[in-house]
Amino acid sequence: MPNKIIIAIDGYSSCGKSTIAKALAKYAGYTYVDTGAMYRAIGLYTLRNGLTAPADIIAALPKIQIGFILTDGAQHVTLNGEDVESQIRTLEAGNRASEISQIKEVRAFLVAQQQKMGDQKGIVMDGRDIGTVVFPKAELKLFLTASPEVRAQRRFDELVEKGEKPNFDDVLKDVNERDYRDTHRAESPLRQAEDAIVVDNSHMTREEQMQVIYGLFDQKISKL
Ligand code: DC
Repeated sequence: MPNKIIIAIDGYSSCGKSTIAKALAKYAGYTYVDTGAMYRAIGLYTLRNGLTAPADIIAALPKIQIGFILTDGAQHVTLNGEDVESQIRTLEAGNRASEISQIKEVRAFLVAQQQKMGDQKGIVMDGRDIGTVVFPKAELKLFLTASPEVRAQRRFDELVEKGEKPNFDDVLKDVNERDYRDTHRAESPLRQAEDAIVVDNSHMTREEQMQVIYGLFDQKISKL
């Protein structure tokens, strides 16, 4: 299809960004890139190798290769060739991802790779800084949000589904702490790009959201 665009989706943790981004990529026939998975993969590497000091983490970056593979139609992230999709989805890896994402050099390392992935356009990328830093000129920018309680319940349900035994209050505390870190870090904090369209999905079904978002995409494409 001619006139492919870049779609940047940002928002808080657990507000359904990846579900929406995946569905929109399928609808548009575009490639989907989950940048949170890239931060999580680096977080996992640091956990496995006992790296905590920023200087040690920065020194290890050249040894870290992150990729994506398709397994049974689903996108899995790889860390130095190993499929680590399930290992990166734990609370521990998520928290570590949030911590290491505050390091400027880690962000520069991943942003460069993400920008390269958008060379040919036709991409839906989700994260925290996509519309502000990675693709400030993206043709369509969405900023997703939902209340902390709704997001904590979604994360709680996901963890239960994975066989974990979470405590709701711990999950809510974790959501609030992660929001604080994501919005207050010095490097590329989560914020809404001026030209982003805000979608609050606290009280929307997935189908309702998708109708709104497919509509925004169709509108954008029809104007090109
Ligand atoms: O979306 P997620 O929960 O998988 O992301 C994990 C962490 O990675 C999140 O707490 C913040 C960080 N992150 C980031 O700083 N920038 C991005 N573009 C994506 C994720």
